[in-house]
Amino acid sequence: MAIISSKKQPPEPNGEPKQRRELAKADSTDKILQPEAAIDEQDKQEESIRPQRFADYIGQKDLKDVLDIAIKAAKSRSEVLDHLLLYGPPGLGKTTMAMILASEMGVSCKITSAPALERPRDIVGLLVNLKPGDVLFVDEIHRLSRMTEEILYPAMEDYRLDITIGKGSSARIRSLPLSKFTLVGATTRVGALTSPLRDRFGLIQKLRFYEVEELTKIVLRSAQLLKTPVTEDGATEIARRSRGTPRIANRLLKRVRDYAEVKSSGQVTENVAAEALQLFQVDPCGLDWTDRRMLSVIIEQFNGGPVGLETIAAVTGEDTQTIEEVYEPYLMQIGYLTRTPRGRVATKAAYKHLDFTPPNEQLSLL
Ligand code: ADE
Repeated sequence: MAIISSKKQPPEPNGEPKQRRELAKADSTDKILQPEAAIDEQDKQEESIRPQRFADYIGQKDLKDVLDIAIKAAKSRSEVLDHLLLYGPPGLGKTTMAMILASEMGVSCKITSAPALERPRDIVGLLVNLKPGDVLFVDEIHRLSRMTEEILYPAMEDYRLDITIGKGSSARIRSLPLSKFTLVGATTRVGALTSPLRDRFGLIQKLRFYEVEELTKIVLRSAQLLKTPVTEDGATEIARRSRGTPRIANRLLKRVRDYAEVKSSGQVTENVAAEALQLFQVDPCGLDWTDRRMLSVIIEQFNGGPVGLETIAAVTGEDTQTIEEVYEPYLMQIGYLTRTPRGRVATKAAYKHLDFTPPNEQLSLL
């Protein structure tokens, strides 16, 4: 009997070198599970199925409860809502939440993102045009430039715009009053915010991954709006493979709808959803090629870890930020990956999912 040491590389499940097998699978479909990737025109339909009111927004109960109280209190005092920082992985509904807040408060929502606010006049232009109570939504707020951030401090604190006129010793600061407004900042990296900026938010709230039951309801609601016939089991199959993320669930629904129309009667059943998503290389847990490659690299080349983020990035060809913000949160959430001070470690569940023998089971064979 072959003795398998835990130090040796795990065996190939079907004899073919795993790297080659996996590489052969990598094609354009692997972006389907990236919540941030703008894939195609169909993504524009996201707007038509975005919930407009709290009553239509499924999931994030704790967050909704907190915001519901804040809205009612602000309304009863006829005040503007406190500045709000929303953080969490991409695709969980931060923008949607900001738009709902504005509509519940009966005000407008101006949407921008930090990379679009490169020059001080970009943020100044937005601030001076805000009407009383308006919501200003700034996505990726951890990426603001220092100058833009410094303009925001007095704007957030005292609804005041401080403009420097002139240069050097003759420079003067002129202050302009602004309408009272609510800044809603969104970030995937709350730790990357400077503390002066973070401290100016009255509410700091996390969005969490959605449960399969919640995603099933979201798929059923979206299917109804898209006039796509779907069974409950079909919706659950899509939900299970959506990485806890509504944006992915809605995207997968559209792909499965296409498949159902071309390959079967048009109805999205459990079997049709499973077949379609297998075709798109979305596995039953929602892992895509990069997830599987990351885990198999850790298992095969580094004995399960720990291995550094930079190394994983180099081997998979993904950048470290995408790995940290998009891939790892979900892999950690489902218990396939842990982060230790010495690097990333693949868990026993990851070994099992990828058909490898976990190290302690290998040891017991000795
Ligand atoms: N579509 C995207 N996110 C949603 C949510 N949380 N509730 C309902 N529909 C959604």
